Amino acid sequence: MPLPKAELHLHIEGTLEPELAFELAARNGVELPYADTEALRTAYRFEDLQSFLDLYYELMAVLRTEQDFADLANAYLARAAAQGVRHAEIFFDPQAHLTRGVGMGTVVEGLWRALEHSEREHGVSTLLIMCFLRDESAESATATLDAAKPYLDRITGIGLDSAEVGHPPAKFREVYEAAAALGLRRVAHAGEEGPPEYVTEALDVLGVERVDHGLRCMEDPALVQRLVRERIPLTLCPLSNVRLRAVDVLAEHPLPAMLDAGLLCTVNSDDPAYFGGYAGDNFDAVRAALGLGEERLRELARNSFVASFLEHDEERRAR
Ligand code: ADE
Ligand code: ZN
Repeated sequence: MPLPKAELHLHIEGTLEPELAFELAARNGVELPYADTEALRTAYRFEDLQSFLDLYYELMAVLRTEQDFADLANAYLARAAAQGVRHAEIFFDPQAHLTRGVGMGTVVEGLWRALEHSEREHGVSTLLIMCFLRDESAESATATLDAAKPYLDRITGIGLDSAEVGHPPAKFREVYEAAAALGLRRVAHAGEEGPPEYVTEALDVLGVERVDHGLRCMEDPALVQRLVRERIPLTLCPLSNVRLRAVDVLAEHPLPAMLDAGLLCTVNSDDPAYFGGYAGDNFDAVRAALGLGEERLRELARNSFVASFLEHDEERRAR
């Protein structure tokens, strides 16, 4: 029996497996520039975050209808459930769809078709977190928040993702303030490829409650102390870090040092279809490569529920 866990860092578009990509391409008459699933899989050799993002955005062309998004989410939820995930806080990237002429309603209603039955069908409770693409403008983020207003009963929080370096958190101060005023929870990717200063800025300027990745905080001892003191959760993604070369090999991942420092770490899959594993696979990989004992693995699983927005969200919905 896999350990029961919550998954807090998961891009739903990053769960698009090659087989489903080809199925949706055929259904929607979209031509993919790969002969077959094998040829596509061989393209999954990444130099860095940007080389992954190029393929990630390219493949999204197959997602066109509500049913496509429902099928995508259902496939993820079934796989996650099999690996012990009991709760998932799911990122989506509306701008990557809006710019292709796929509306906010198609994306949110489509995902919702799967999410609304998830507890019953998969035993997985879910929340949705809408991410802004940080390599797009602040104005585009604000327009995206406006487009989401009819769907806010289905969206728990906002996040910030895509190419990090050169797009510091402060660029998005206004849209985060507006989201906070709407009662949305706030997270952001920071310290994946970007410097520790981006983590500090995400906390101070955007008011984030959780940091996605946050890996590079380890370069700044005062920041580590602060994250420990303020109990700020970090949503780490070990297999992603290896595939995107944030760390050279898994055996050198700083997770054990981060736990020893007292950081509230969680283990997640990020984009499992691209990085070689779902949540349970990430747990298995860190167990094997880092020699984490049962107690550490249980701590990681416990942290995932502590760091989730579950109770708070129920309070917010009840208001
Ligand atoms: N979008 C999808 N996966 C991402 C990652 N690991 N970092 C930044 N943006 C992303
Ligand atoms: Zn991510």
